[in-house]
Amino acid sequence: MDFNLTEEHVMIRDAAREFAQTELLPGVIERDEKQHFPDSLVKKMGDLGFLGLMVAPEYGGSGMDTISYVLVMEELSKIDASASVIVSVNNSLVCYGLEAFGSEAQKQKYLSKLATGEFLGAFCLSEPEAGSDATSQKTSAIDKGDHYLINGTKNWITNGGRADVYLVIAQTDRHKGSHGINAFIVEKGTEGFHIGPKENKLGIRGSDTHTLQFNDVKVPKENRIGEDGSGFRFAMRTLSGGRIGIASQALGIASGAYELALKYAKERKAFGTEICNHQAIAFKLADMYTNIEAARHLVMKAAWDKDQGNNYDVSSAMAKLYASKVAMEHTVEAVQIHGGNGFVKDYHVERLMRDAKITQIYEGTSEIQKIVISRNLIRG
Ligand code: CAA
Repeated sequence: MDFNLTEEHVMIRDAAREFAQTELLPGVIERDEKQHFPDSLVKKMGDLGFLGLMVAPEYGGSGMDTISYVLVMEELSKIDASASVIVSVNNSLVCYGLEAFGSEAQKQKYLSKLATGEFLGAFCLSEPEAGSDATSQKTSAIDKGDHYLINGTKNWITNGGRADVYLVIAQTDRHKGSHGINAFIVEKGTEGFHIGPKENKLGIRGSDTHTLQFNDVKVPKENRIGEDGSGFRFAMRTLSGGRIGIASQALGIASGAYELALKYAKERKAFGTEICNHQAIAFKLADMYTNIEAARHLVMKAAWDKDQGNNYDVSSAMAKLYASKVAMEHTVEAVQIHGGNGFVKDYHVERLMRDAKITQIYEGTSEIQKIVISRNLIRG
Protein backbone atom coordinates (compact mmCIF):
# COMPACT_ATOMS: atom_id res chain seq x y z
CA MET A 1 0.00 0.00 0.00
CA ASP A 2 1.37 3.43 -0.92
CA PHE A 3 -0.38 6.58 0.25
CA ASN A 4 2.05 8.89 -1.58
CA LEU A 5 1.04 10.70 -4.74
CA THR A 6 3.29 10.28 -7.75
CA GLU A 7 5.15 13.25 -9.21
CA GLU A 8 2.58 13.43 -12.04
CA HIS A 9 -0.27 13.44 -9.53
CA VAL A 10 1.29 16.29 -7.58
CA MET A 11 1.83 18.24 -10.83
CA ILE A 12 -1.76 17.92 -12.02
CA ARG A 13 -3.11 18.70 -8.53
CA ASP A 14 -0.95 21.83 -8.32
CA ALA A 15 -1.98 22.91 -11.83
CA ALA A 16 -5.64 22.59 -10.83
CA ARG A 17 -5.01 24.46 -7.56
CA GLU A 18 -3.27 27.28 -9.41
CA PHE A 19 -6.08 27.49 -11.96
CA ALA A 20 -8.72 27.54 -9.22
CA GLN A 21 -6.97 30.30 -7.30
CA THR A 22 -6.11 32.53 -10.23
CA GLU A 23 -9.01 31.92 -12.61
CA LEU A 24 -12.00 30.56 -10.70
CA LEU A 25 -11.78 32.57 -7.49
CA PRO A 26 -12.13 36.04 -9.02
CA GLY A 27 -15.80 36.43 -9.92
CA VAL A 28 -17.05 33.29 -8.17
CA ILE A 29 -19.38 35.27 -5.89
CA GLU A 30 -20.84 37.24 -8.79
CA ARG A 31 -21.34 34.13 -10.94
CA ASP A 32 -23.19 32.52 -8.03
CA GLU A 33 -25.37 35.59 -7.45
CA LYS A 34 -26.25 36.15 -11.09
CA GLN A 35 -26.33 32.47 -12.10
CA HIS A 36 -23.69 33.18 -14.74
CA PHE A 37 -22.31 30.18 -16.56
CA PRO A 38 -18.49 30.45 -16.77
CA ASP A 39 -18.19 30.23 -20.58
CA SER A 40 -14.65 31.60 -20.91
CA LEU A 41 -13.45 29.51 -17.95
CA VAL A 42 -14.87 26.34 -19.49
CA LYS A 43 -12.87 27.14 -22.61
CA LYS A 44 -9.71 27.54 -20.49
CA MET A 45 -10.40 24.27 -18.67
CA GLY A 46 -10.70 22.61 -22.08
CA ASP A 47 -7.34 24.08 -23.12
CA LEU A 48 -5.78 22.68 -19.92
CA GLY A 49 -7.16 19.23 -20.69
CA PHE A 50 -9.53 19.21 -17.69
CA LEU A 51 -12.59 18.30 -19.77
CA GLY A 52 -11.20 15.03 -21.06
CA LEU A 53 -8.84 14.05 -18.29
CA MET A 54 -9.24 10.27 -18.55
CA VAL A 55 -9.85 10.06 -22.30
CA ALA A 56 -7.13 8.36 -24.36
CA PRO A 57 -4.82 10.79 -26.20
CA GLU A 58 -5.85 9.25 -29.56
CA TYR A 59 -9.31 10.79 -28.95
CA GLY A 60 -7.91 14.15 -27.84
CA GLY A 61 -7.89 13.41 -24.11
CA SER A 62 -5.23 13.83 -21.42
CA GLY A 63 -4.88 10.06 -20.91
CA MET A 64 -4.69 10.37 -17.13
CA ASP A 65 -5.94 8.02 -14.44
CA THR A 66 -8.93 8.41 -12.14
CA ILE A 67 -6.69 9.47 -9.23
CA SER A 68 -5.62 12.51 -11.31
CA TYR A 69 -9.27 13.21 -12.07
CA VAL A 70 -10.32 13.29 -8.40
CA LEU A 71 -7.31 15.45 -7.50
CA VAL A 72 -8.38 18.00 -10.12
CA MET A 73 -12.01 17.78 -9.01
CA GLU A 74 -11.09 18.40 -5.36
CA GLU A 75 -9.04 21.49 -6.17
CA LEU A 76 -11.65 23.04 -8.47
CA SER A 77 -14.46 22.27 -6.01
CA LYS A 78 -12.68 23.98 -3.12
CA ILE A 79 -13.21 27.23 -4.97
CA ASP A 80 -16.09 26.77 -7.41
CA ALA A 81 -18.36 23.73 -7.36
CA SER A 82 -20.34 25.14 -10.30
CA ALA A 83 -17.24 24.88 -12.49
CA SER A 84 -16.39 21.44 -11.13
CA VAL A 85 -19.77 19.89 -11.90
CA ILE A 86 -19.30 20.92 -15.53
CA VAL A 87 -15.97 19.07 -15.47
CA SER A 88 -17.46 16.07 -13.69
CA VAL A 89 -20.43 15.57 -16.03
CA ASN A 90 -18.34 16.07 -19.16
CA ASN A 91 -15.60 13.69 -17.98
CA SER A 92 -17.28 10.89 -16.15
CA LEU A 93 -20.77 10.75 -17.61
CA VAL A 94 -20.32 11.89 -21.19
CA CYS A 95 -16.70 11.18 -22.22
CA TYR A 96 -16.46 7.96 -20.21
CA GLY A 97 -19.85 6.78 -21.49
CA LEU A 98 -18.78 7.26 -25.09
CA GLU A 99 -15.27 5.92 -24.69
CA ALA A 100 -16.39 2.77 -22.84
CA PHE A 101 -19.58 1.98 -24.77
CA GLY A 102 -19.61 4.03 -27.99
CA SER A 103 -18.76 2.80 -31.49
CA GLU A 104 -15.51 3.82 -33.17
CA ALA A 105 -17.46 6.17 -35.45
CA GLN A 106 -19.18 7.81 -32.44
CA LYS A 107 -15.82 8.26 -30.72
CA GLN A 108 -14.29 9.82 -33.84
CA LYS A 109 -17.23 12.13 -34.36
CA TYR A 110 -18.03 13.22 -30.80
CA LEU A 111 -15.48 12.10 -28.21
CA SER A 112 -12.51 13.92 -29.71
CA LYS A 113 -14.42 17.21 -29.59
CA LEU A 114 -15.83 16.57 -26.10
CA ALA A 115 -12.43 15.69 -24.68
CA THR A 116 -10.84 18.94 -25.84
CA GLY A 117 -13.70 21.21 -24.82
CA GLU A 118 -14.68 22.07 -28.39
CA PHE A 119 -18.00 20.44 -27.48
CA LEU A 120 -19.67 20.22 -24.08
CA GLY A 121 -21.78 17.23 -23.10
CA ALA A 122 -24.90 16.54 -21.01
CA PHE A 123 -26.27 13.29 -19.59
CA CYS A 124 -30.05 13.00 -19.68
CA LEU A 125 -31.56 10.32 -17.46
CA SER A 126 -33.81 12.03 -14.89
CA GLU A 127 -37.44 12.74 -15.69
CA PRO A 128 -40.38 14.32 -13.85
CA GLU A 129 -41.47 10.81 -12.77
CA ALA A 130 -38.16 8.93 -13.01
CA GLY A 131 -35.53 10.40 -10.70
CA SER A 132 -34.35 7.76 -8.23
CA ASP A 133 -36.62 5.20 -9.90
CA ALA A 134 -34.58 5.32 -13.06
CA THR A 135 -36.04 2.24 -14.78
CA SER A 136 -39.44 4.00 -14.99
CA GLN A 137 -38.43 5.98 -18.08
CA LYS A 138 -41.40 7.67 -19.78
CA THR A 139 -39.37 9.17 -22.60
CA SER A 140 -39.89 6.88 -25.57
CA ALA A 141 -37.65 6.05 -28.51
CA ILE A 142 -39.62 4.23 -31.18
CA ASP A 143 -37.69 2.19 -33.75
CA LYS A 144 -38.60 3.46 -37.22
CA GLY A 145 -36.14 1.39 -39.23
CA ASP A 146 -33.22 3.68 -40.05
CA HIS A 147 -33.95 6.04 -37.15
CA TYR A 148 -35.60 6.36 -33.73
CA LEU A 149 -38.31 8.88 -32.86
CA ILE A 150 -37.81 10.32 -29.38
CA ASN A 151 -40.62 11.90 -27.33
CA GLY A 152 -40.58 12.99 -23.71
CA THR A 153 -39.19 15.30 -21.05
CA LYS A 154 -35.89 15.28 -19.15
CA ASN A 155 -35.38 17.24 -15.92
CA TRP A 156 -32.54 18.90 -13.99
CA ILE A 157 -30.05 18.41 -16.79
CA THR A 158 -26.59 19.78 -15.98
CA ASN A 159 -25.08 21.73 -18.93
CA GLY A 160 -28.67 21.59 -20.29
CA GLY A 161 -28.58 24.87 -22.21
CA ARG A 162 -24.87 24.91 -23.00
CA ALA A 163 -24.17 21.40 -24.24
CA ASP A 164 -23.59 20.47 -27.87
CA VAL A 165 -24.05 16.73 -27.37
CA TYR A 166 -26.70 15.09 -25.19
CA LEU A 167 -26.66 11.44 -24.12
CA VAL A 168 -30.37 10.67 -23.80
CA ILE A 169 -31.77 7.56 -22.10
CA ALA A 170 -35.19 6.45 -23.39
CA GLN A 171 -37.55 3.49 -23.36
CA THR A 172 -37.72 1.60 -26.66
CA ASP A 173 -39.78 -1.38 -25.52
CA ARG A 174 -41.85 -0.90 -22.37
CA HIS A 175 -42.59 -4.66 -22.06
CA LYS A 176 -38.90 -5.42 -21.60
CA GLY A 177 -38.52 -3.10 -18.57
CA SER A 178 -34.91 -2.12 -17.92
CA HIS A 179 -33.84 -4.30 -20.89
CA GLY A 180 -35.98 -2.22 -23.25
CA ILE A 181 -34.05 1.00 -22.56
CA ASN A 182 -31.51 2.57 -24.93
CA ALA A 183 -29.06 5.47 -24.85
CA PHE A 184 -28.79 7.88 -27.78
CA ILE A 185 -26.56 10.72 -28.88
CA VAL A 186 -28.67 13.77 -29.70
CA GLU A 187 -27.10 16.89 -31.14
CA LYS A 188 -28.19 20.37 -30.11
CA GLY A 189 -30.34 21.94 -32.80
CA THR A 190 -31.99 18.69 -33.90
CA GLU A 191 -35.56 19.45 -35.00
CA GLY A 192 -38.08 18.96 -32.17
CA PHE A 193 -35.46 19.19 -29.43
CA HIS A 194 -36.26 22.15 -27.17
CA ILE A 195 -34.33 23.53 -24.23
CA GLY A 196 -36.66 24.72 -21.46
CA PRO A 197 -36.09 27.51 -18.95
CA LYS A 198 -33.04 27.53 -16.68
CA GLU A 199 -33.64 26.38 -13.07
CA ASN A 200 -33.17 28.95 -10.27
CA LYS A 201 -31.18 26.89 -7.77
CA LEU A 202 -30.10 26.92 -4.11
CA GLY A 203 -26.49 26.07 -4.98
CA ILE A 204 -24.07 25.45 -7.85
CA ARG A 205 -25.81 28.48 -9.33
CA GLY A 206 -23.08 29.09 -11.92
CA SER A 207 -23.87 25.76 -13.55
CA ASP A 208 -26.56 25.50 -16.18
CA THR A 209 -29.56 23.31 -15.31
CA HIS A 210 -32.56 22.92 -17.61
CA THR A 211 -35.61 20.87 -18.49
CA LEU A 212 -35.41 19.43 -22.00
CA GLN A 213 -38.31 18.59 -24.27
CA PHE A 214 -38.24 16.04 -27.10
CA ASN A 215 -41.07 16.24 -29.63
CA ASP A 216 -40.73 13.69 -32.44
CA VAL A 217 -36.96 14.07 -32.44
CA LYS A 218 -35.48 11.97 -35.25
CA VAL A 219 -32.23 10.29 -34.22
CA PRO A 220 -30.29 8.17 -36.75
CA LYS A 221 -29.79 4.54 -35.78
CA GLU A 222 -26.01 4.96 -35.73
CA ASN A 223 -26.49 7.32 -32.76
CA ARG A 224 -27.70 4.53 -30.47
CA ILE A 225 -24.97 3.66 -27.97
CA GLY A 226 -24.24 -0.07 -27.71
CA GLU A 227 -26.50 -3.06 -28.34
CA ASP A 228 -30.27 -2.71 -28.46
CA GLY A 229 -31.60 -2.75 -24.88
CA SER A 230 -28.28 -1.93 -23.19
CA GLY A 231 -29.21 1.66 -22.21
CA PHE A 232 -30.03 1.05 -18.55
CA ARG A 233 -26.82 -0.89 -17.97
CA PHE A 234 -25.00 1.92 -19.81
CA ALA A 235 -26.56 4.48 -17.45
CA MET A 236 -25.72 2.47 -14.32
CA ARG A 237 -22.13 1.74 -15.37
CA THR A 238 -21.58 5.36 -16.31
CA LEU A 239 -23.13 6.65 -13.09
CA SER A 240 -20.85 4.44 -11.00
CA GLY A 241 -17.92 6.47 -12.33
CA GLY A 242 -19.91 9.70 -12.14
CA ARG A 243 -20.35 9.09 -8.43
CA ILE A 244 -16.56 9.16 -8.00
CA GLY A 245 -16.61 12.61 -9.63
CA ILE A 246 -19.38 13.89 -7.34
CA ALA A 247 -17.71 12.32 -4.28
CA SER A 248 -14.53 14.25 -5.12
CA GLN A 249 -16.61 17.38 -5.63
CA ALA A 250 -18.08 16.91 -2.14
CA LEU A 251 -14.59 16.31 -0.77
CA GLY A 252 -13.41 19.56 -2.35
CA ILE A 253 -16.34 21.54 -0.98
CA ALA A 254 -15.66 20.15 2.52
CA SER A 255 -11.91 20.72 2.40
CA GLY A 256 -12.38 24.21 0.93
CA ALA A 257 -14.69 25.11 3.82
CA TYR A 258 -12.30 23.56 6.33
CA GLU A 259 -9.32 25.56 4.99
CA LEU A 260 -11.31 28.80 5.23
CA ALA A 261 -12.51 27.95 8.75
CA LEU A 262 -8.98 27.11 9.96
CA LYS A 263 -7.58 30.36 8.54
CA TYR A 264 -10.41 32.39 10.08
CA ALA A 265 -10.08 30.67 13.47
CA LYS A 266 -6.36 31.52 13.57
CA GLU A 267 -7.03 35.21 12.84
CA ARG A 268 -10.28 36.05 14.59
CA LYS A 269 -9.95 37.01 18.25
CA ALA A 270 -12.54 36.65 21.03
CA PHE A 271 -12.16 36.67 24.82
CA GLY A 272 -8.56 37.86 24.44
CA THR A 273 -7.22 35.14 22.11
CA GLU A 274 -7.57 33.71 18.60
CA ILE A 275 -10.75 31.63 18.55
CA CYS A 276 -8.81 28.47 17.53
CA ASN A 277 -7.48 28.48 21.11
CA HIS A 278 -10.98 27.88 22.45
CA GLN A 279 -11.69 24.19 22.71
CA ALA A 280 -15.19 24.68 21.30
CA ILE A 281 -13.60 25.75 17.99
CA ALA A 282 -10.46 23.57 18.14
CA PHE A 283 -12.55 20.39 18.50
CA LYS A 284 -14.72 21.37 15.55
CA LEU A 285 -11.54 21.73 13.47
CA ALA A 286 -10.27 18.35 14.69
CA ASP A 287 -13.56 16.67 13.74
CA MET A 288 -13.60 18.35 10.34
CA TYR A 289 -10.04 17.35 9.50
CA THR A 290 -10.56 13.75 10.63
CA ASN A 291 -13.77 13.25 8.68
CA ILE A 292 -12.39 14.95 5.56
CA GLU A 293 -9.37 12.62 5.64
CA ALA A 294 -11.72 9.64 5.98
CA ALA A 295 -13.74 10.91 3.00
CA ARG A 296 -10.52 11.39 1.02
CA HIS A 297 -9.53 7.77 1.64
CA LEU A 298 -12.90 6.51 0.40
CA VAL A 299 -12.71 8.74 -2.69
CA MET A 300 -9.17 7.63 -3.48
CA LYS A 301 -10.06 3.97 -2.94
CA ALA A 302 -12.96 4.24 -5.40
CA ALA A 303 -10.70 5.96 -7.96
CA TRP A 304 -8.03 3.31 -7.40
CA ASP A 305 -10.59 0.51 -7.85
CA LYS A 306 -11.58 2.00 -11.20
CA ASP A 307 -7.96 2.35 -12.29
CA GLN A 308 -7.21 -1.24 -11.27
CA GLY A 309 -10.15 -2.60 -13.25
CA ASN A 310 -11.93 -3.70 -10.03
CA ASN A 311 -15.69 -3.38 -9.67
CA TYR A 312 -16.31 0.07 -8.18
CA ASP A 313 -20.10 0.14 -7.76
CA VAL A 314 -19.86 -0.14 -3.98
CA SER A 315 -16.70 1.89 -3.43
CA SER A 316 -18.04 4.78 -5.53
CA ALA A 317 -21.40 4.65 -3.71
CA MET A 318 -19.67 4.64 -0.31
CA ALA A 319 -17.39 7.51 -1.33
CA LYS A 320 -20.30 9.62 -2.52
CA LEU A 321 -22.50 8.76 0.47
CA TYR A 322 -19.84 9.65 3.01
CA ALA A 323 -18.12 12.58 1.29
CA SER A 324 -21.45 14.33 0.63
CA LYS A 325 -22.48 13.89 4.30
CA VAL A 326 -19.14 15.34 5.41
CA ALA A 327 -19.52 18.22 2.93
CA MET A 328 -22.99 19.09 4.23
CA GLU A 329 -22.16 18.80 7.92
CA HIS A 330 -18.81 20.54 7.79
CA THR A 331 -19.82 23.44 5.61
CA VAL A 332 -22.47 24.16 8.27
CA GLU A 333 -19.69 24.02 10.90
CA ALA A 334 -17.48 26.30 8.78
CA VAL A 335 -20.29 28.87 8.73
CA GLN A 336 -20.66 28.46 12.52
CA ILE A 337 -16.92 29.03 13.08
CA HIS A 338 -17.15 32.21 10.99
CA GLY A 339 -20.05 33.46 13.18
CA GLY A 340 -21.80 36.50 11.69
CA ASN A 341 -19.22 36.70 8.91
CA GLY A 342 -20.15 33.17 7.85
CA PHE A 343 -23.57 34.49 6.89
CA VAL A 344 -22.02 37.06 4.56
CA LYS A 345 -21.23 36.19 0.94
CA ASP A 346 -17.72 37.71 0.94
CA TYR A 347 -16.46 34.93 3.22
CA HIS A 348 -17.40 32.16 0.73
CA VAL A 349 -18.51 29.56 3.30
CA GLU A 350 -22.26 30.21 2.94
CA ARG A 351 -21.91 29.46 -0.79
CA LEU A 352 -20.01 26.24 -0.07
CA MET A 353 -22.79 25.27 2.37
CA ARG A 354 -25.44 25.83 -0.32
CA ASP A 355 -23.33 24.01 -2.92
CA ALA A 356 -22.81 21.02 -0.62
CA LYS A 357 -26.50 20.06 -0.57
CA ILE A 358 -26.70 18.92 -4.19
CA THR A 359 -23.92 16.36 -3.64
CA GLN A 360 -26.41 14.40 -1.48
CA ILE A 361 -28.96 14.49 -4.31
CA TYR A 362 -27.58 14.27 -7.85
CA GLU A 363 -26.13 11.18 -9.54
CA GLY A 364 -28.12 9.15 -7.03
CA THR A 365 -29.37 10.46 -3.68
CA SER A 366 -27.76 9.28 -0.45
CA GLU A 367 -30.69 6.90 -0.05
CA ILE A 368 -29.96 5.40 -3.50
CA GLN A 369 -26.29 4.95 -2.55
CA LYS A 370 -27.46 2.96 0.50
CA ILE A 371 -29.60 0.78 -1.80
CA VAL A 372 -26.58 0.13 -4.05
CA ILE A 373 -24.31 -0.69 -1.09
CA SER A 374 -26.78 -2.84 0.86
CA ARG A 375 -27.95 -4.83 -2.19
CA ASN A 376 -24.33 -5.69 -2.98
CA LEU A 377 -23.69 -6.69 0.65
CA ILE A 378 -26.74 -8.92 0.80
CA ARG A 379 -26.17 -10.45 -2.64
CA GLY A 380 -22.57 -11.11 -1.66
N1 CAA B 1 -24.01 -2.22 -13.55
C1 CAA B 1 -24.55 -3.07 -14.46
N2 CAA B 1 -25.85 -3.43 -14.44
C2 CAA B 1 -26.62 -2.89 -13.47
C3 CAA B 1 -26.12 -2.02 -12.49
C4 CAA B 1 -24.74 -1.69 -12.57
N3 CAA B 1 -24.19 -0.84 -11.70
N4 CAA B 1 -27.12 -1.67 -11.67
C5 CAA B 1 -28.21 -2.33 -12.09
N5 CAA B 1 -27.90 -3.06 -13.19
C6 CAA B 1 -28.79 -3.96 -13.93
C7 CAA B 1 -29.32 -5.04 -12.99
O1 CAA B 1 -28.44 -6.14 -12.92
C8 CAA B 1 -30.64 -5.41 -13.64
O2 CAA B 1 -30.41 -6.29 -14.71
P1 CAA B 1 -31.15 -7.75 -14.74
O3 CAA B 1 -32.61 -7.43 -14.86
O4 CAA B 1 -30.58 -8.41 -15.94
O5 CAA B 1 -30.82 -8.43 -13.46
C9 CAA B 1 -31.11 -4.09 -14.24
O6 CAA B 1 -29.96 -3.26 -14.38
C10 CAA B 1 -32.13 -3.39 -13.37
O7 CAA B 1 -31.53 -3.20 -12.11
P2 CAA B 1 -32.35 -3.17 -10.74
O8 CAA B 1 -33.34 -4.28 -10.72
O9 CAA B 1 -31.37 -3.10 -9.63
O10 CAA B 1 -33.15 -1.81 -10.92
P3 CAA B 1 -33.98 -0.95 -9.87
O11 CAA B 1 -35.18 -0.43 -10.53
O12 CAA B 1 -34.14 -1.68 -8.59
O13 CAA B 1 -33.03 0.36 -9.66
C11 CAA B 1 -31.26 1.67 -8.77
C12 CAA B 1 -31.71 0.32 -9.29
C13 CAA B 1 -29.87 1.43 -8.17
C14 CAA B 1 -32.15 2.22 -7.68
C15 CAA B 1 -31.16 2.65 -9.97
O14 CAA B 1 -32.43 2.94 -10.49
C16 CAA B 1 -30.47 3.96 -9.62
O15 CAA B 1 -29.24 4.02 -9.55
N6 CAA B 1 -31.25 5.05 -9.45
C17 CAA B 1 -30.66 6.37 -9.28
C18 CAA B 1 -30.51 7.04 -10.60
C19 CAA B 1 -29.55 8.19 -10.55
O16 CAA B 1 -28.44 8.07 -10.04
N7 CAA B 1 -29.94 9.30 -11.14
C20 CAA B 1 -29.06 10.43 -11.27
C21 CAA B 1 -29.42 11.21 -12.47
S1 CAA B 1 -28.09 11.68 -13.46
C22 CAA B 1 -27.49 13.13 -12.80
O17 CAA B 1 -27.76 13.51 -11.71
C23 CAA B 1 -26.53 13.77 -13.72
C24 CAA B 1 -26.30 15.22 -13.58
O18 CAA B 1 -26.68 15.99 -14.45
C25 CAA B 1 -25.40 15.69 -12.52
